[in-house]
Amino acid sequence: MPQERSASRAESALAGTARKPVVILTGAGISAESGLGTFRDVGGLWSRYDWRDLATPEGFARDPGFVLEFYNWRRERVREASPNAAHLALARLARDYGGPVTLITQNVDDLHERAGQRGVIHMHGTHLTALCAACGHRWPAPEVMHPRDPCPACAAPKARPDVVWFGETPYHMERIAEALAKAALFVSIGTSGTVYPAAGFAARARAAGARTVELNLEPSENKSLFNEACHGPASEIVPQWVDGLLAD
Ligand code: OAD
Repeated sequence: MPQERSASRAESALAGTARKPVVILTGAGISAESGLGTFRDVGGLWSRYDWRDLATPEGFARDPGFVLEFYNWRRERVREASPNAAHLALARLARDYGGPVTLITQNVDDLHERAGQRGVIHMHGTHLTALCAACGHRWPAPEVMHPRDPCPACAAPKARPDVVWFGETPYHMERIAEALAKAALFVSIGTSGTVYPAAGFAARARAAGARTVELNLEPSENKSLFNEACHGPASEIVPQWVDGLLAD
């Protein structure tokens, strides 16, 4: 997919915002080149599976075995994957920027962390932990979860993946609201902009005075909310954008 604009145009638009707070939102597109499928692209997960069966509390109640099999399979794919140049570039930005960088991800993989990023806000949860639906206890997810696995804390047979399903409230919304209110620059990377509340973050940051930038394979649903956009594979455009910001 060709880049629609050169990275330098996005970079030049950032003049004056360096060292001021940056908030970054990532989605499945940043992990696509690590071999993890996206949801809504052609051949994406939600074109092959019905999200109502696999990503809702009702689907889990109907058929926990099917849901756990799906998440066991995804957890295994994540374990096999490695961070790509985009994850590494964002970790470099956080290390070298010299100002606050908040990274919010909708992804449940740990590729940002494995690239060296600290303090990642996983608003849709993580594959790394299991959650007790009875008492809220969390523990390292085993390789394979089974229906009615007991909670190590309260023994209730209520273990579930620690991921946020449709109809549930995403995690860390207060911290996210604080970061968006202070952002001078908001950058959306590899997300289709279709799932709320994350899809509303660009508008919120812009209303609070931030410049907004989209780095995505193609224009997202939210394209009108961005001051600048750079389109192409994340492994190419994210390192270019980070280089530009650090050189600013
Ligand atoms: P989507 O699958 O909706 O969107 C992925 C975006 O990444 C698309 O806009 C693609 O164009 C873009 N993309 C694909 N490959 C790329 C690449 N190599 N480089 C850059 N961009 C690329 O995924 P999300 O927006 O993350 O939630 O989906 C949001 C939420 O919907 C997910 O967290 C998940 C899902 O249902 C839950 O399961 C609760």
